[in-house]
Amino acid sequence: MIKAQRGTKDILPNEIMTWQEVENKARELFQGANYKEIRTPIFEGTELFKRGVGDSTDIVNKEMYTFCVGNNENSITLRPENTAGVVRSYIEHGMERLSPPVKLWYFGPMFRYERPQAGRQRQFHQIGLELFGIKEGTADAEVIIMASEFLKRNGIKDLYVSLNSLGCPNCRNKYKEEIKKALMPYLDNLCDDCKVRYEKNPLRMLDCKDENCKKIFEKEEIKNVILKDFICDECREHFEKVKEYLEISNIEYKIDKMLVRGLDYYTRTVFEIKSDSLGSQNAILGGGRYDGLVEMLGGKPTPAVGFALGVERLISLINKKEELKLDYFVVSTDTKEGIKAVNLLRNKGYSADFDFQARKFAKQIEKAGRVAKFALIIGEDEIKEGYFTVKNLETGEQKRITEIK
Ligand code: HAM
Repeated sequence: MIKAQRGTKDILPNEIMTWQEVENKARELFQGANYKEIRTPIFEGTELFKRGVGDSTDIVNKEMYTFCVGNNENSITLRPENTAGVVRSYIEHGMERLSPPVKLWYFGPMFRYERPQAGRQRQFHQIGLELFGIKEGTADAEVIIMASEFLKRNGIKDLYVSLNSLGCPNCRNKYKEEIKKALMPYLDNLCDDCKVRYEKNPLRMLDCKDENCKKIFEKEEIKNVILKDFICDECREHFEKVKEYLEISNIEYKIDKMLVRGLDYYTRTVFEIKSDSLGSQNAILGGGRYDGLVEMLGGKPTPAVGFALGVERLISLINKKEELKLDYFVVSTDTKEGIKAVNLLRNKGYSADFDFQARKFAKQIEKAGRVAKFALIIGEDEIKEGYFTVKNLETGEQKRITEIK
C-alpha cells in the first residue's frame, strides 16, 4: 500500500468543515480590516530564501526542499514560509508605488524538512499577513491585535503573547558582541549548532533547545548580559509605543528577552502567541517587524511587519465541527422522479442529494436521517396524486406539499 509521506497529512472530509471555518474567519476578519488576499506560488528560486530567510538559519541550512528539474539549471525550493515570497511579489508587481500601508494576507501550504512530531509536520499550512510601508509602532500593534482577535474568534483561550525587541542592526551588533564575549569561556561546552551560531548568528543561540546550552545561558554572568537592556533610544521609544498601543487595546503580553525567532530578517519587534496546551511546539503563531527585507531583496527601503499562524496547531485546539447536514435528501423508489426532484431542489438553492439506485424505502430513510434535515418523499401515492411528503428528520413530523418553493 502506498501511504502519505512522513510528516504530511490528508485533510479528510470529516475535518474539512473546521478548516473551512478557520479560513472563512480569516477572510472575514482580515478583509474587514482592509487586508487583501495574495496567493503566491508554492515554489520560488532558492536564492530568495537564502537571502530572505538567511543562510545561517536552520530553515535554510537543514529544512528546505530544494531541487532542479529538467534542463533548467535554476535551483528551486518549496516555500518554507511566505514572507519572502510575498516581499518578492510586492517588489515585482510595483506595490511599492501604492500609497502605504499595503496590507496583504495569505493562506497556504509551507514545506520544511523537519523531524515530524506532534505540532510539527513537513507540509503544514500557514495563515499570515504582512503590512508594508509603516514604520510606526501602530503597525506592529495592529498586526498583533489582528493575530489575537483571530484566535479569539476561533474560540482559543489560555493564550499569551510573548514580546521582545531585537533592536535595529546598529544596537543589535553591539549586543551580539557582548553575548559572544560573555560566552567565549564556554565555547567548547556549547552544542555543535551553537558553535556555528556563535560565529554566524549569535542571537540564535538563545533559542537553543539543548539542555547543556540552556544551563550555560542560565549562569548568572551570562544571564545578566542576555537580560541587558541593549536597544538604542529610538528602538526603545518605538517599543514603548508598541506596548502602549497593546495596553490600550487590552492585549496582555509578557516580555521575553530570550525570544529571538528563527528567521534572520527581523528588526525591532518580535512576538509569538503561545498556548501551553500545545506541548513542546507551543507557538500557534509568530511574527515581527522586518524593516530591511524589502531593500535586501532588491526593493526600495520599506518598513514592514507581519505574522504567520500554523493552521494545524490552531485546529488541534478547536473542537471538531459536526459535518453540516443537507437541507433535503430525496427518498424515492423511482430514480427518474428522484433526479427530477433533486434538480429542482438544487435549482431553488437548497442543498440536496438523492439515492442513486432507488434502494428500499427503509434504507433511503435511514440514510436521509444521517445526512439531511428533511426527507422529500416521493412514493407511489405521491406520484399518483401529484404531491410530495416532507418529513422533518429531527421531529418526525410529516406534511404534504404540492410545490417546492
Ligand atoms: P515561523 O515562526 O517560522 O514564522 O512560523 C509561523 C508558525 O507556523 C509557527 O508559529 C507554527 O505555528 C507554524 N509552523 C512552523 N513550522 C511548522 C511545522 N513544521 N509544522 C507545523 N506548523 C509549523 C514564519 O514563518 C514567518 N514567515 C512569520 C512572519 C510573517 N514574520 C513576519 N511575517
